[in-house]
Amino acid sequence: MRHKLAVGNWKMNGSTSALSEIDALIPLLPDTPPHVVICPPAPLLFRASEAVHGTAITIGAQDCHMQASGAYTGDISAAMIADTGATHVIVGHSERRAAHEESNSDVRAKAAQAWSAGLKTIICIGESDEDRAADNTLDIIAGQLSGSLSDGATGANTVIAYEPIWAIGTGKVPSLDQIIEVHDFIRARLIDRFGDAIADVIPLLYGGSVKPDNAETIFRAKNVDGALVGGASLKASDFAPIISALARI
Ligand code: 13P
Repeated sequence: MRHKLAVGNWKMNGSTSALSEIDALIPLLPDTPPHVVICPPAPLLFRASEAVHGTAITIGAQDCHMQASGAYTGDISAAMIADTGATHVIVGHSERRAAHEESNSDVRAKAAQAWSAGLKTIICIGESDEDRAADNTLDIIAGQLSGSLSDGATGANTVIAYEPIWAIGTGKVPSLDQIIEVHDFIRARLIDRFGDAIADVIPLLYGGSVKPDNAETIFRAKNVDGALVGGASLKASDFAPIISALARI
C-alpha cells in the first residue's frame, strides 16, 4: 500500500516565530493523520524537528548539495540535514531548476547524496505553460522523470511531486483530467522502468495552488497520493484542512 503524504514547502518564508504555526498545527491534526512533512528554511530545521517530536509530522529540507562535503561555501549537505533530525529533502523544485540552473543529472546526484544520508527525496517535475501550450507536457515529464530518477529509487526512499510550473503560486490549477492524465502517465512510466512492486509504492504528489477548497477533489483522483503545498502550508489554519481532506480519502 502506498502511504498518503501532505508536504508543506515554506520556501524562503518564516523565522523562528513561524515555529508557532507548527505548534498550532499539531492539535489540529485529524485522529488518524496521514504522514505530514514540513519543509522550513534550513536555519529552522533543527528547531522544527524538536517541535514535531512524537507527532505525525516530520521535517524536510528544500534542497541539498550534490557532494557529500567540501569547499562549497554556503551550501548544505544531505548529512547535515539528516543531523538536524529531518527525514526528507525536496530536490529539483522548479524554482531551483530555473534560478540555479539545476539539471536532471544534478537532481539525480542530489538524490543519491540524500539517500546515502538516510533521507527520503521528494523529486519535483513539471512542465511550463509554453510546454503545455505546445502539447509537450508528457514529453517533458518523461524526460524529467527518467533523467532525475536513478535506478536506486524505491517506495522507501522516493516521493515524486508533479508541479506544473504555471500552477505554482498563481491560483491556477489544472483540470482534474489534466492532473489524472499526468499522474497516470508517471505511474505507467514508473511501472515500465521499475516494475509493479516498486512503482506501486512510490507516492505521487500533486503541487501547485493546492488550497483548503480544492484539496479534496484533487486527492480523490486515482494516482494522487497527496500534495506538495506552498503558500497554504504557511498557516496552520490553511494547512490543517488540507491534511484533514487527505485523511478522509
Ligand atoms: P503554491 O502551493 O504556493 O502554489 O506552491 C506550490 C509549490 O511550489 C510547492 O513546492
